[in-house]
Amino acid sequence: MAKHLKKSSGKCSNRLSLNALAVVLCLSILFFAVWSLFVSQDNSMYNGDSEETAEMETQSMDAEPQENTTGYLAVLLGETGQLDSTYTWITTDSTVATVDENGVVTGLSVGRCQMIVNETDDCIQIIVRALEEIDGCTYIDDILIVNKTYSLPESYDPGLQPEVESAFAVLAEDAALEGLDIYIGSSYRSYAFQEEIYQNYCELYGWEKADTFSARPGHSEHQSGLTIDCNTINDAFGETDKATWLAEHCADYGFIIRFPEGKEDITGYKYEPWHIRYVGVEVAQEIQAYDLTLEEYLGVESVYDGPWEG
Ligand code: DAL
Ligand code: ZN
Repeated sequence: MAKHLKKSSGKCSNRLSLNALAVVLCLSILFFAVWSLFVSQDNSMYNGDSEETAEMETQSMDAEPQENTTGYLAVLLGETGQLDSTYTWITTDSTVATVDENGVVTGLSVGRCQMIVNETDDCIQIIVRALEEIDGCTYIDDILIVNKTYSLPESYDPGLQPEVESAFAVLAEDAALEGLDIYIGSSYRSYAFQEEIYQNYCELYGWEKADTFSARPGHSEHQSGLTIDCNTINDAFGETDKATWLAEHCADYGFIIRFPEGKEDITGYKYEPWHIRYVGVEVAQEIQAYDLTLEEYLGVESVYDGPWEG
């Protein structure tokens, strides 16, 4: 029995060997065919020669957002922004924003993504924002924007906002604990009052000079009730410990130094160390962390559309 079993086991074994060989052969052919397919797709991806290729690259970038963000660029929905054109940028989400070979970023949907340079560690945070106009006021992500480009209606008359007043009270209290007297020098202004101030400066210095430090009526943040001028409105304030403390800590209370030094071309105004604008703690801290102006944070300009004709 054992012998028979052994014999029949031998025959069976030979047949099995042949079958196994055939199966291995078929599997090998199948594996080779599948492998060839993948290799050819891989190559076309690296050759970068089709729209489908770009889509695949984007998808693979989507899976690995970078954490080493070295910059920040906000663009309005449907508008463009500029990255350093000497690099080749890749978007992590082409549904939010695309970038062309000249570094021009186009905002396609509201959201965030990153633009990455493969050869360096550069990774720019991209934010696409939507602008909304309500009763003549312009909001971007619920932030009221007032500058040379965006104005407030003459009838807008909110007074100093209670939220701003209470945030400032805490700021002043904390500054006082460190022996620093920070107080409200000027806050809410009506359209009529801003008009008076600006006209006075125009008479003294001419409108071109006045435009560098005083807002035209309708264009002053003081009319929004969200802004405070601290202490004495004087360049010497910038040299004090109070100004240093204010610049370092105001974001913790929801304020930003609205017209920072070195960013005059962006804000449209000379450095004002005393002028703080309330935007809320989260936004203020992000603006401070990236060392931005409100214009850069929101992706807007601050430019009048013509000379003063008042
Ligand atoms: N000094 C600022 C720009 C204003 O007049 O609102
Ligand atoms: Zn001011």
